[in-house]
Amino acid sequence: MLRTIFLSGLVSVALMAGQYTKADRVKDMQKMAAAMNEIETGFFYNNKDQVIQGALKLSDTIRNVRPPLEEKEEKNPMMRYMNEKVKFSNKIVKTIDKKAETIIERFQSGDTNQALQAYKKIMSSCMECHSKLRRW
Ligand code: HEC
Repeated sequence: MLRTIFLSGLVSVALMAGQYTKADRVKDMQKMAAAMNEIETGFFYNNKDQVIQGALKLSDTIRNVRPPLEEKEEKNPMMRYMNEKVKFSNKIVKTIDKKAETIIERFQSGDTNQALQAYKKIMSSCMECHSKLRRW
């Protein structure tokens, strides 16, 4: 009996660990805002390390971002809308990740203008998602 309780406890801990929650997403959002600041400051001070650090942080974080379980599991009649939301999120996440790489490549090769273009593209992707998902 005790053994069963212990085991089922373990299973639920394991399940919890795999869940991405709204709280996780808020944390990731805050990390990304900090990363964007870091990149921007790096641009202003022409500090390559800072730009790279910020872009890496952004890239690491955006890869975690996905619709939280609560949203995925929402059922009809919102289902179709939610599925679209999932697809939309995944696409925009990929764009941001790719552009973060572009920032690093371009800034390293001295092409600050292209690095800045990539930064702007990321910024507008952030806002695009916010206006779609959050109605800002
Ligand atoms: C896939 C969609 C999506 C993308 C892409 C996205 N966000 Fe968000 N963001 C959200 C949602 C949804 C919330 C609201 C989260 C909540 O309150 O549960 C949010 C909230 C935030 C918040 C407020 C967090 C808080 O403390 O309440 C910040 C800051 C933020 N995002 C920054 C960013 C930045 C910077 C980027 C781009 C690098 C970005 N977001 C890209 C969906 C997105």
